[in-house]
Amino acid sequence: TVSSASQGLVDKDGHRHFMAKEIHEQPEVIAHTISRYIDGTSKTINLPNGAFDFAKLDRLTISACGTAYYAGLVAKYWFERWARLPIEIDVASELRYRDVPWTKDGGALFITQSGETADTLSALREARKNGQQIASVVNVPESSIARESDIVFPMAAGPEIGVASTKAFTCQLAALACIAIAAGRQRGTLSAEEESELVSGLLEIPRLVAEALKQSDKIETIARDIAKATGIFYIGRGVSYPMALEGALKLKEISYLHAEGYASGELKHGPIALIDENLPIAVIAPVDAHFEKTVSNMQEVMARDGKALLISCKDGIARAGEKTWANIETPKSHPLLSPIVYAVPIQLLAYFTATTKGTDVDQPRNLAKSVTVE
Ligand code: G6P
Repeated sequence: TVSSASQGLVDKDGHRHFMAKEIHEQPEVIAHTISRYIDGTSKTINLPNGAFDFAKLDRLTISACGTAYYAGLVAKYWFERWARLPIEIDVASELRYRDVPWTKDGGALFITQSGETADTLSALREARKNGQQIASVVNVPESSIARESDIVFPMAAGPEIGVASTKAFTCQLAALACIAIAAGRQRGTLSAEEESELVSGLLEIPRLVAEALKQSDKIETIARDIAKATGIFYIGRGVSYPMALEGALKLKEISYLHAEGYASGELKHGPIALIDENLPIAVIAPVDAHFEKTVSNMQEVMARDGKALLISCKDGIARAGEKTWANIETPKSHPLLSPIVYAVPIQLLAYFTATTKGTDVDQPRNLAKSVTVE
């Protein structure tokens, strides 16, 4: 895809970088992705023909690399909650070399933008050798991983040029949410009412993502300060925990600033020792079942002179954002679907920190878009 870009087949559409263009394309490509799964009139999900029968699975193993792995970590919460399906999840470079006690009726799900990541492909072959049914969520339909899968769940992100994944990530999440909802229906663990409520929640996501993009100028101002920091921590709980990991990954990839993501509750078990006024902490706190707990973790940081950046909805900021260093308002969605919306502020924060520092946003040093070596 990088070569097609340089041949001018894909352009930046008026944006300074492909990454900015791809961040802004998200409302549209997420809408395309969910339209591949959702029947808008009946408010139900349809999986492609030949998808595995989730009712018969005794376990689902999920594996991927980098940002795609974090999409898988979010999906673990969804499959557990909606489908009551036991999930095994690991990065592909580890899964491949572990002595996994594979189950007889297991399925394995691989997530990859390029479909060519060598570690993910090896993990897939290992799962196949061990009798697992193989499914994948892939952006490039003619890729090796798509070809070697029994079933490919489509996503419709279109070509992604920026090395740091943005729109592919949110489209992976959108596709995974649909798959997990359908799994819940097949396993009889999600009622028709719950399914239609979640489908309505998903149908709102493109509009909410467009709304979240409007905070761009405010986030740019905050990023100017972050660029001067010694590093940044991200915390979150529940589905926001993988988002903390993704926020940190995105920032370090393109701005080269040291960043770490932690589960909110883990902060006190070590990392809090590093907090001072030069190490801001981004708190991913949608108003969901974990809001109060995460806010109390944030207050522990503030009590130690830490600079807290609260990322929450209007209501969350009204409840907890008074004495913070800064706040980023993010539209409220169905609480379990919040990662798809909260991806936007964390992408923009990474992007503007990088542009402030003047790094090569689209082709960061030492990184490749598609890593075809193990
Ligand atoms: C590379 C990219 C990451 C990406 C990962 C997995 O390391 O720099 O942005 O998340 O590969 O790529 P895939 O194509 O398998 O999603």
